[in-house]
Amino acid sequence: MAESKQPQGSGAQASEAQIAVHWREEEYVPPPPKFVEQANAKDPAIFDRFSEEHFPDCFKEYADLLVWDEPWHTTLDTSKPPFWKWFVGGKLNASYNCVDRHAEARPDKTAIIFVPELESDEHVAISYSELHRRVNEFAAVLRDSVGLKTGDRVTLHMPMVPELPVTMLACARLGVIHSQVFGGFSGTACGHRIADSGSRVLITMDGYYRSGQMQDHKAKADEALEAARQEGQEVDKVLVWRRRDGQYASKTPMADGRDFFVDGLLSEHRGATVEPVSMPSEAPLFLMYTSGTTGRPKGCVHSTGGYLSYVAGTSKYYQDIHPDDVYWCMADIGWITGHSYIVYGPLALGTTTVIYEGVPNYPDGGRPWRVAETLGVNIFHTSPTAIRMLRKVGPEEPKKYDYHFKHMTTVGEPIEPEVWRWYHSEVGKGKAAIVDTWWQTENGGFLGSTLPALQPMKPGSCGPGVLGVYPVIYDEDANEVPAGSGNAGNICIRNPWPGIFQGIWGQPDRFVATYYRKYNKDPDSTDWHDWPYFAGDGALQAADGYFRILGRVDDVINVAGHRLGTKEIESAALTVPEVAEAAAVPVIDDIRGRVVEVYVSLKPGFEPSKALEKKVSAAIDTQIGKIARPKNVWIVPDMPKTRSGKIMRRVIASISNFADVGDVTTLANPEIVDSIRHYVQSSKVARDDVPRELTEAEFEEIKKFGGE
Ligand code: WTA
Repeated sequence: MAESKQPQGSGAQASEAQIAVHWREEEYVPPPPKFVEQANAKDPAIFDRFSEEHFPDCFKEYADLLVWDEPWHTTLDTSKPPFWKWFVGGKLNASYNCVDRHAEARPDKTAIIFVPELESDEHVAISYSELHRRVNEFAAVLRDSVGLKTGDRVTLHMPMVPELPVTMLACARLGVIHSQVFGGFSGTACGHRIADSGSRVLITMDGYYRSGQMQDHKAKADEALEAARQEGQEVDKVLVWRRRDGQYASKTPMADGRDFFVDGLLSEHRGATVEPVSMPSEAPLFLMYTSGTTGRPKGCVHSTGGYLSYVAGTSKYYQDIHPDDVYWCMADIGWITGHSYIVYGPLALGTTTVIYEGVPNYPDGGRPWRVAETLGVNIFHTSPTAIRMLRKVGPEEPKKYDYHFKHMTTVGEPIEPEVWRWYHSEVGKGKAAIVDTWWQTENGGFLGSTLPALQPMKPGSCGPGVLGVYPVIYDEDANEVPAGSGNAGNICIRNPWPGIFQGIWGQPDRFVATYYRKYNKDPDSTDWHDWPYFAGDGALQAADGYFRILGRVDDVINVAGHRLGTKEIESAALTVPEVAEAAAVPVIDDIRGRVVEVYVSLKPGFEPSKALEKKVSAAIDTQIGKIARPKNVWIVPDMPKTRSGKIMRRVIASISNFADVGDVTTLANPEIVDSIRHYVQSSKVARDDVPRELTEAEFEEIKKFGGE
């Protein structure tokens, strides 16, 4: 039954975090008995082992999945809050843990299966001993030909090919900090990340296949170097892997003395072995950039020991990975999901991980199921956007293929119960346990999920906090929203966990301000209880303890599971000389969850035109990448503004979504609202681009977008 909940808190007016949400409790779905029988976590005693009373030592169970060169003496060091350190005193190497130990124990076991996008190309299986050889040889290149040392940063801008994990693991072997930038990001976006991280080396690939076409990817390297140079960062060397042996897929020349083909360098290091460097547990393993409220993306620093322990442990218990499974996560390694749950987690456990190069629906909506059938995939992991898309293009396709998933994951966005049910009954054929995993780039691994054999699934809810993670919901005034009350607020994590990032690269104050200041109880305290982690998501908790994530409470738009900051998009639009002001807003989309629309006003003397709309779109492509490309660019005479001059994003977001704009009488220019609405909505009607009616939660999200 739909029920209206009253917001908690003292103020008469509901604040952003206290919105009342109407929602229906879904029925539980139990995991299939066959799944439960074989699950890694099937004894409920595990909940006791990870109860708060056993924190933080419970995480020894995760750390013990790894081989340590030296044992740690302190499980959790809280002396410099909130810069938590895990397994202090311990030393280990991530490459050794993901490669060498399995290559020794089971050399012929397949580590990676690469599935090229073109179906006419055979898939390629790489054994652990072969992976060991490749990682060692490339580590020799990095150390001896390129001169990289422990602690150096190196930027990777690579597509979904096995050379990407080889590169990451070669860096990890040397204690070199890798920073992989999503291959779909533009050269300029890559360049900003090169500059921020201070990388002097870029590793890329000449090209890759996407929707059947070879992309010229090396061209982006030249743009990246130029963008980095403008920010004062010189890159000395660009290493270029080749997608096809002996061919060069790019039109851009190789710059003499700067650009090197990796195959050429490798030929000097055939058979080389490189001793893994024993790294302190808290040494950075990699950087992963993500968007936030302010303009520049932030480089999240992930540690070696804590991170690797956490992804190994959660892969074992939540992904239910056994060494003999064939595991396929269809995310991109350029995002945190790919780092944790394509590369580091599965390889730490010595299983087989599938890497698919292309788009899920190439050449048709049956492709993923053919891959699953051919390779015998039994664990499948993807996003709601991919599920919605595959459901749209081929609702009957899964039936046609003979595969069996024991376990499936959804990640990155809220999943609608109806979409969940298709995933469960059609993709999973009713025989798979599903986990809806809620977490973030900053977190290293899952925060909210069901433990698949021990907690029933509930469509639309991720589940309770995972083992050893204790969430809490606060209102804007730092009052705890009573657990299980069903009232919305800001979800926070009360305690540190091993996968938590160690900071924002080069910006310690921003780290504290963004994630801890809001609910910190005492800035001088070294007790972790005083430092709840602010996740930036709205959520509510039902009486059974399951959380339902409502989405970001900041100015981040989640497009197809990927975080885009409105400020980033707006500053890209503002690089167009004619543009005076820009505002980016989310529009509800049936496939991609949210898409971006951009409103711009022009400097005096310029007239709106289609060409100018295209120019704004192109600027966003160049500065960020196609993923941020707006669905529409609206050139408007002026933006709706408060009397203090702040652009009211919620008003234009409501217009774009055909939602009620609410009270606009207090605006400095209320008359503009009607004229913008008329222009935008009649254009949308003419284009047959009217979104479906919003759910109440969506309406709340739009109504509060951008604050005020
Ligand atoms: C959203 C991706 C609902 C959330 C791993 C979060 C989700 C942001 C879920 C992080 C989920 C992620 N249900 N929403 N299962 N998982 N989100 O950093 O808003 O790319 O803050 O990490 O995605 O996105 P990020």
